[in-house]
Amino acid sequence: MNWLASAPGRVNLIGEHTDYNGLPVFPMAIDRDVRIEYRVSDHPVVRLDSPLARFDPFTFQLKRPIEAASQGHWSNYVRAAAKGLMEHGVRMERGIEGTVTGDVPIASGLSSSSALVVASALALLKANGVEVGRDAGPGPTISGLELAALMARAERFVGLEGGGMDQAACLHGVAGHALRIDFEPLRVKPVAVPKGWRWVVASSLVRAEKSGGAREAYNERARQCREALAGVGDAFANDGPTTPEGARSGAVALTYRDLVAHGDMDGLLDHARRILAPVLFRRFRHVVTEGRRVARAEVAMRDGDMSRFGNLMVGSHDSLRDDYEVSTFELDKLVTVALEAGAAGARLTGAGFGGCAVALCDQAAVGAVMDALAARFYEPRLGQPPTGDEMFAAKPSGGARVRIADRP
Ligand code: GLA
Repeated sequence: MNWLASAPGRVNLIGEHTDYNGLPVFPMAIDRDVRIEYRVSDHPVVRLDSPLARFDPFTFQLKRPIEAASQGHWSNYVRAAAKGLMEHGVRMERGIEGTVTGDVPIASGLSSSSALVVASALALLKANGVEVGRDAGPGPTISGLELAALMARAERFVGLEGGGMDQAACLHGVAGHALRIDFEPLRVKPVAVPKGWRWVVASSLVRAEKSGGAREAYNERARQCREALAGVGDAFANDGPTTPEGARSGAVALTYRDLVAHGDMDGLLDHARRILAPVLFRRFRHVVTEGRRVARAEVAMRDGDMSRFGNLMVGSHDSLRDDYEVSTFELDKLVTVALEAGAAGARLTGAGFGGCAVALCDQAAVGAVMDALAARFYEPRLGQPPTGDEMFAAKPSGGARVRIADRP
């Protein structure tokens, strides 16, 4: 029997570089996915190929230790899933043999890599009789949230100190909904996208490989955030402004979540500016203000006030450009063109350093925004109109799953 494990990419609507700081994010799963069509093997082996030219066939044994292939090799995402499941105690007596296809643009900040990790995990779980979901059946099970958290940890095998957004969005997507995702512990709350609004995803034509050059810059941001938090936490313990309970005495470690909940954001930022080196202060200011924007964006969407949502997206982009310094000339240009053509909001999406921007458009404005991006961004660079891979309207979609493949 042939099986099909499919896992969607995601576009993050707001809440960037907040997940690994324990603050919420607000993405949606999209109608593009990574697919593994496979047969269960009686041997503990994974053998996959792909029609995509840069993805050469590979084989590895489901035996510890699972070694990494060379840096940047696509099999590392599949190895990461297998390693994570084995370390969790899943007995891998059977493997999978099959072919990987899909239409999530690669290295574009749309989480094609996490989609591959999640699809691999679902395929391996199914092959070994483990069902996903609390009430999945009489045999061994793993809950969807547990699996998302496990795969987030597992993907760090590839080297990026990522948070848990991508894997959670991929597993828990709901058609027609964005997802408010909170961490520590992981929670996912679907929020309906108001009717008549569209999300245009536009590639900057600059690749942002999670396993490549963007990785160091990303991990450096994560380190800076920890350093900034420690600096502010120490100052609170000594002589900070009125603090979250317990922090002044140093009795509890301060978290970014405490700080975002702090009533006096201006006072907090003044204080942080005095004690942190300028670059750490800018990173800190992005994280805490972005945390606030996510909460406001969720309310705006629930209220159906999408122009307010759009303004928050613009605030997010400005902060990512100026304070977090992860935007690029091309991403800024995409955002400017989309806004000038009538988008209600636009921002870079994903880690930055390349990848994509996302624009929020009233249905009536989609054509004008896409025409402007084609004329002012793509045609000068490509010498021709963009294809559907460079720019498309993404639909909020359902999450990853395994089913029997249509054909034998
Ligand atoms: C990457 C990571 C995510 C998240 C984003 C930035 O996509 O995998 O966990 O940190 O960057 O928001």
